[in-house]
Amino acid sequence: MIAQIACFALNGLEGVPVQVETDVNKGMPSYEMVGLPDTAVKESKERVRSAIKNSGMLFPISKITVNLAPADIRKEGAVFDLAVAISLLKASEQLVGAAVEDIVFLGELALNGDLRAVNGVLPLIISAKARGYKKFIIPCANAAEARYLGGAEIYPAATLLDVVKHLLGIERIEPLETAQFVPHSSGKNTADLKYVKGQPVARRAIEIAVAGGHNLLMVGPPGTGKTMLARCLPTIMPDLTFEEALEITKIHSVAGVLSEEGIVSERPFRTPHHTATTVSMCGGGNRIVHPGEISLAHGGVLFLDELPEYKRSTLEALRQPLEDGTITVSRAGGTFTYPARFMLCASMNPCPCGNYGSANLTCSCSAGEIRRYRKKVSGPLLDRIDLQVEVDNISYDALSSQATEEESSSVRERVNEARRIQRCRFEESAHKTNAEMGEREMRSFCSLSKECDDILRSAFERMHLSARARSRIIKVARTIADLDACEYIQPKHIFEAVSYRLYDKMG
Ligand SMILES: Nc1ncnc2c1ncn2[C@@H]1O[C@H](COP(=O)(O)OP(=O)(O)O)[C@@H](O)[C@H]1O
Ligand SMILES: [Mg+2]
Repeated sequence: MIAQIACFALNGLEGVPVQVETDVNKGMPSYEMVGLPDTAVKESKERVRSAIKNSGMLFPISKITVNLAPADIRKEGAVFDLAVAISLLKASEQLVGAAVEDIVFLGELALNGDLRAVNGVLPLIISAKARGYKKFIIPCANAAEARYLGGAEIYPAATLLDVVKHLLGIERIEPLETAQFVPHSSGKNTADLKYVKGQPVARRAIEIAVAGGHNLLMVGPPGTGKTMLARCLPTIMPDLTFEEALEITKIHSVAGVLSEEGIVSERPFRTPHHTATTVSMCGGGNRIVHPGEISLAHGGVLFLDELPEYKRSTLEALRQPLEDGTITVSRAGGTFTYPARFMLCASMNPCPCGNYGSANLTCSCSAGEIRRYRKKVSGPLLDRIDLQVEVDNISYDALSSQATEEESSSVRERVNEARRIQRCRFEESAHKTNAEMGEREMRSFCSLSKECDDILRSAFERMHLSARARSRIIKVARTIADLDACEYIQPKHIFEAVSYRLYDKMG
């Protein structure tokens, strides 16, 4: 008898349908599986065989052929285990009367028959739902991420035997109850702007950066609060909407880094170490292509602490995603495009000793040393960083002062208001923030008066700015004007935006 069972395979962030067809008939006993890469076949065959036996069911001694169709898509073995086992049981007439045709089965089997979690359950279910499937059986361990999807019957199962009992109507599994998404902090990040003393320029810069989705570089001596300020970024970012949370969760699900909670409920804050390779930063892998740090940071912040310590090639690889908001990775496993729209925040010392430019410390580096150090960060990358600010040492008095600094939640209110203005502005387009504007949008929304244009022209000539730096200054000025609730960019906004091109000033 032949049985057909529905399953889905991951292709980037999408699920593609895979039919598991099993033929069990009389003949020389054998067990063949086709349509999977060799190693995956071997592993999956053995897991399924053991799981069936150890669940107290019969592994048929017949001529068995399992086919995973279509053959031309790249598949990983583990997610198909459950579908293969069910199709084998169906084809060997151990599931008589059970309706299995309209169910999608997802899950890896352990040798003892337990169902193990698989990566990407959320995107797989979303794709399957779009194709009209409404019933799913998934591992219990993946239930958390599937809970938020309405409009489907999702049954979480602990073992193969539980699935069989459910299908035969012996013991039904309760479908998941749909949960309501509520954005909230995990509590892991205890940073708050109220703990940051002084540093008014940097505080203002991170507010502007978050308000308009701009990239930010903080330059200053060690121990002045750069890392501390960066950690405050997520605390002033707007709440995630459900759609954003789903998109981010899909990426984290494919990468297998979801927390127990299932859905990503706060904006990511990724801090890859400076030894990170280009693959871990941008994505890659052999058989399957994993999303990299920049995709895991999608919708949130990618923080590169001590920027010049990172490998030059890794930093160069960030240039294209910084422009496009996506990353395309080609590997033997195929070519995948993952979202990568993140806010880049970087920090660095101004020179190897860290004191260059400081108001009260002396720098001991030679001009050559400083140049070499700065050169580690390429001009084209810096060009893409809209705000570059200096974070200087602060006095003991300022540090020990009892004066209260503004807390994150009230900064966040201003950010939310600026974002609301941007949402109205970009109602008709896919953009969300000023930083994403293209030439066309800039023409409509950033017209400059003669006075503003003159200020910009003189800065452009004085600081030898690039054309890209010029547009970035205009976008930042737009955000500053939004924070000011001004419809048009004013001279003071341009002045302030120009002041955040520290690196251009330093030359
Ligand atoms: N502006 C500041 N206000 C309050 N504490 C600060 C400030 N700057 C530094 N500190 C203290 O010094 C520590 C180190 O700061 P950090 O942010 O790591 O410096 P950086 O990244 O600039 O080297 C912080 O954890 C904090 O205790
Ligand atoms: Mg630091």
